[in-house]
Amino acid sequence: MNICILGAGAIGSLWACYLHNAGHSVSLWTRSSETSISLSLDERPPLVFPCNQESQLANADLLIVTVKAWQVESAIHPIISLLNPSCSIIFSHNGMGAVEAILPQISNHPVLFATTTHGALRKNKNQIQHTGHGQTIIGSLNNLADEQLDKLVEAFDLALPPALSDSNIGQALWNKLAINCCINPLTALNDCRNGELAAKDTLEIIDSLCFEIAMVINAEGFTCDNNELFTRTQQVIEATSANFSSMHQDIHHNRPTEIDYITGYLLQRALTHNIDTPMNKQLFKQIKQKEAQNDH
Ligand code: PAF
Repeated sequence: MNICILGAGAIGSLWACYLHNAGHSVSLWTRSSETSISLSLDERPPLVFPCNQESQLANADLLIVTVKAWQVESAIHPIISLLNPSCSIIFSHNGMGAVEAILPQISNHPVLFATTTHGALRKNKNQIQHTGHGQTIIGSLNNLADEQLDKLVEAFDLALPPALSDSNIGQALWNKLAINCCINPLTALNDCRNGELAAKDTLEIIDSLCFEIAMVINAEGFTCDNNELFTRTQQVIEATSANFSSMHQDIHHNRPTEIDYITGYLLQRALTHNIDTPMNKQLFKQIKQKEAQNDH
């Protein structure tokens, strides 16, 4: 396949290297004016990818959008008209709500979402490290995508296994959002690694967060048991104990966070169902305050 990756962050760069190694023709599209980017995966020799070339975009069979949720609209808007209508678009980012906002503009394309638990670290502009082996789940966001799903899952599975298809991607997205609502704001506010959330006091907060989150997910028509969510969150805290969460890193590096698409999305949905979520509201407010301090 001809594949273009929009956003050369950690996950975008990781997929670029693995999909290239699996025999696909991969190019990148970034905010810079560079015409090529060299990336080396782990300690391997560098790979050179064409970058920001309209001809590559026009020929793409697949566009993978790996920019952050809050960048989705502004990143994809200028390039929609350059894409071939048959080009499939896979989005992958933390949070929910960003793709919904632009779905009508790309409804003639097969649109999908991929959620991944692979860990990647961009050590510098040209070096990418695969820090944790995970899995990728891909699901359709519109009917056109249903015909493409098996082929795309197979391509991901051959390049960086395991990749699985999910006919209920909404449930998978809520499962991930629920964990992000617990781990991300708390690590950013406590300025700590994920593992430090396992302290007794913090686990009590997480327990209350899970209770609120489960109510919203159930009201949305998906399933979530608050005790089971609490256990799952603890498992992720343990499995990623040495990591700094993405929101911790964003605050630390003075960047905007994904809070509007994580806790913010939960709060919006809670409001439509008249569900009270004081604990999540409190974390949302505190992250917004931190972001505002960073602005100065
Ligand atoms: O956003 C993140 O950092 C990750 O999704 C997670 C699961 C919280 C682990 O750090």
